[in-house]
Amino acid sequence: MHLYSLALISAALVGSISAQNVFYGSFIHSVNVTNLEHVTKGVIAVDRTGKIVQVETNTSETQARQIATKYRVSLTLLGNQKFLMPGLIDTHIHAPQYVFTGSGMDLQLLDWLNTYTFPREARFNDTSYARDAYNKVVDRLVRGGTTAASYYATIHLESSKILADIVEKKGQRALVGKVNMDRNSPDFYVESTAQSLKDTETFIQYVLSKNNSRVIPIVTPRFVPSCTTELMKGLGNLAAKYNVPIQSHLDENLDEIAWVKQLHPDQPDYTSVYDVNGLLTNRTIMAHVVHPTDAERQLLKQRGAGISHCPNSNFSLRSGIAKVRQMLAEGQKIGLGTDVAGGYGTSILNTIRTGYFAAIARSFDHPDDKYLKLAEIFYLATLGGADVLGMKNTLGNFVVGKQFDALIVDPLARGSPIDLFSHDDVKTIFEKFINNGDDRNIIQVFVDGKSIHRV
Ligand code: GUN
Ligand code: FE
Repeated sequence: MHLYSLALISAALVGSISAQNVFYGSFIHSVNVTNLEHVTKGVIAVDRTGKIVQVETNTSETQARQIATKYRVSLTLLGNQKFLMPGLIDTHIHAPQYVFTGSGMDLQLLDWLNTYTFPREARFNDTSYARDAYNKVVDRLVRGGTTAASYYATIHLESSKILADIVEKKGQRALVGKVNMDRNSPDFYVESTAQSLKDTETFIQYVLSKNNSRVIPIVTPRFVPSCTTELMKGLGNLAAKYNVPIQSHLDENLDEIAWVKQLHPDQPDYTSVYDVNGLLTNRTIMAHVVHPTDAERQLLKQRGAGISHCPNSNFSLRSGIAKVRQMLAEGQKIGLGTDVAGGYGTSILNTIRTGYFAAIARSFDHPDDKYLKLAEIFYLATLGGADVLGMKNTLGNFVVGKQFDALIVDPLARGSPIDLFSHDDVKTIFEKFINNGDDRNIIQVFVDGKSIHRV
């Protein structure tokens, strides 16, 4: 048959499906919480909207070329060492706290907030300071392979809008929240209840008006001690009115928990304070959850709320070790969070490593809580994170119909901290990257199929 007619036939077969990218090589992703799939000779085809339209395993390069020809694009060959993996997901990060990341690690939560955090966040009433810091933090996350994040901004409406604008411009996927604080806060960093609610509604409307599926507003009461009951109720109503997610902190530190008990003696526990105020929904993300009671974990599960496990922060602020093994066994929704600057860095790879060590440390005196396997920790960093963000059906692994948020990893990139040997297979190379790799190995980052960073 004439080549020209072959092309016509395949174009007709493809119909309206078209691809903008077809990759051939190795990829690694979570199939579920316990299973990592390592594919060699794989094909992933992505359409113009960033949707994965075809996935093949055990394909020859010739077959891969035919697939690319079918979509009328050139084939991207990953070669022998490079591989694709899903983008990393940070389910809890304070963007303004990037300005002091890696410093001020000598205090526990409540003193840390008063000494370092509130004075630094207060500076974000200055929009040019905010713009500079937010550009830097989003760039840093993208370079580190974080394709989606749930951000806290500060109480300031204008700089919170700037964070949403920057995320949009840079093409990252994010939930962005203006923080709410109307009590127990310093004079220089507090809002009235009315202003807090008004600015939050304006912020929600502003972000929704972007009509951009990658940038979503999230209602963000800082934590119970910072929010009056009136504010919490109002925020619960706004989340329901606009059908948007909610994020806050829960059961992070023992002094914090005692304080909440003192503030709300009428409620059985911390989780119930959020619940009675309409803030515990199946779109809620609760950070930390280090010291929950059985009843609290049950309530979280019942409501379908997500948990952001922040192991680096839980070590750095000496908050404790979360019972991740137990919560996974209960079927809770869990992902990883850096909690910058409670956590000392923006890297989800680092969070994977500290999460791994946290689980090992817990297993020493809780032998029933077996440490987490690489597959489980990697799940938390990708598919589990997608679940926590409410995006499990559209993100987190390479399945037809999902969006292509992905990284190309080159273990031999310039300056790579990894060395390879002839006996290293895909699985070993991947493990080496997870445990010793860094930004230098992440040579390209895609969100919705679009390249947003390339080394
Ligand atoms: N609880 C209330 N605010 C914060 C914060 O900024 N960081 C952490 N880790 N916990 C909090
Ligand atoms: Fe936090």
